[in-house]
Amino acid sequence: MQTEISTGVMVPGATHHADTRSLDDTILRLEKLSVHLGAGDHARTVVDEVSLTIRAGECTALVGESGSGKSLTSLAIMRLLPSSMHVSGSIVLRRQSGAQVNVSSLPRSELTSIRGLEIGMIFQEPMTSLNPLLTVGEQISEMFMVHRGESRQVAKNHAEEMLVRVGIPEARARLAAMPHELSGGMRQRVMIAIAIACDPRIVIADEPTTALDVTIQAQILETLRGLQERSRGMLFVSHDLGVIAEVADRVHVMYAGQVVESGSVGAILLRARHPYTMGLVASVPRIDRPQPRGAALYSIPGRVPELARMPAGCRFHPRCAHARAGLCDRVVPQIEVTEDGGEVRCLRWREIAPTDTLSASQRGSAL
Ligand SMILES: Nc1ncnc2c1ncn2[C@@H]1O[C@H](COP(=O)(O)OP(=O)(O)O)[C@@H](O)[C@H]1O
Ligand code: SF4
Ligand SMILES: [Mg+2]
Repeated sequence: MQTEISTGVMVPGATHHADTRSLDDTILRLEKLSVHLGAGDHARTVVDEVSLTIRAGECTALVGESGSGKSLTSLAIMRLLPSSMHVSGSIVLRRQSGAQVNVSSLPRSELTSIRGLEIGMIFQEPMTSLNPLLTVGEQISEMFMVHRGESRQVAKNHAEEMLVRVGIPEARARLAAMPHELSGGMRQRVMIAIAIACDPRIVIADEPTTALDVTIQAQILETLRGLQERSRGMLFVSHDLGVIAEVADRVHVMYAGQVVESGSVGAILLRARHPYTMGLVASVPRIDRPQPRGAALYSIPGRVPELARMPAGCRFHPRCAHARAGLCDRVVPQIEVTEDGGEVRCLRWREIAPTDTLSASQRGSAL
C-alpha cells in the first residue's frame, strides 16, 4: 500500500476534490452522497454530501465517533438502508465489465449482481450477520452456488479454500461448525470469507475489529491487509484512528454526518488541520507516550450532537477549543482544499497552525 501526497496548489474556497491521481484505478466514487431520514417537515439529513473515492489496491478509511454517519454511508453503498431513508447524490461504480453504473438508481433486481460479486461487506458483529441455523460451510458455499452457479460439492471445496485463505485452521472440519461454536475472531474470519468469496473488487469493512480483543484484532487487521492483493479496493470504517493508522492510505474524518477533513493517513496523523481531527489524534493511545499512572487518555469533551439539535454554524463549535463567538456559531464552514491535497471544513484552519498533532498531544496540551 502506498500513501501519496499530491502536490496540488492551495485553492482557497474550492469545493472539489483535489485529487491528482489517475481516474483509471477508481472503482467507486461517492459524489455528494446524502442520506435523508423521513419526509416532509420532519425530514433530516443524516449523511451530508459525502464525496470519496475507492481505488484499486488502496484502503480508504472513514473515521469518527459513534453516531457520525459512517455505517449509514456504508449501507447506502450496499443499498441496505432502512426503508425510512433515501439517498441523493451518486454512487458511481465501475463494474468489472468496465461499464459505469450509479448504484443508487439501479433497479432492485440488479442488486444481487453488485452485492457479493462487485462489493463485499464485513460487519462489526458477525453473530447478527451470520445465519445461526446454517453451518459456516453452507453459508460460504451459498455464495458460490448463487453467484457462480456451482454445484454443492464444488462450492464446498471452494468454501474450504476460503477458510484456509482467511487463516482458519482445520478448515475441512470447520465447514460443519455452527456460528455459535466459533470464537468471535473465527466468526469474523468467516464473515471475511463470505465477503471475499466471489472475489469482489471492493470490500467494505464496518468496524470489523471493534468487538474483538487486541490480539485477535491485530490478526484480523493482518488478514484484511492481505486483501489488498489482487488490486482490491477497500473502504475501512472505524471510530478508532489507531486502527485506521494500521490499514488506511487515505482518511476521511466524519463528524455529525459530514466529512470535516480528509487527506493521506500521514497528513491526518502528523498535520491535522481540523480541531476535531486533532482531538481524535490526541485520543489515540501511544506506546511511545505512556500514560502517567491513573491518568485518563485524552477524550474530546462533549458528544456528537443529536440530529434534532444540530448546532448552527459549525456543527463542532460547542466542543471546539478554537471556536470564535459570532463566527463559528453563525457561519457554516464549507470544504476547502489544502496545499497538500487534503480537504478541511473549518472557518479558521489557516489561523490554526497545522500543528504537529502528535507532539502537541505528547505534551498533553489541549490542542
Ligand atoms: N435506523 C435508523 N433510524 C433513525 N436514525 C438512525 C438509524 N440508524 C442510524 N441513525 C442515526 O443516524 C446517525 C448516524 O448513524 P450511523 O451511521 O450508524 O453512525 P456511525 O456508524 O458513525 O456510528 C446517528 O445519529 C444515528 O442515531
Ligand atoms: S469552524 Fe470554528 S468551531 Fe468549527 S472547527 Fe473550525 S474553529 Fe472550531
Ligand atoms: Mg457504525
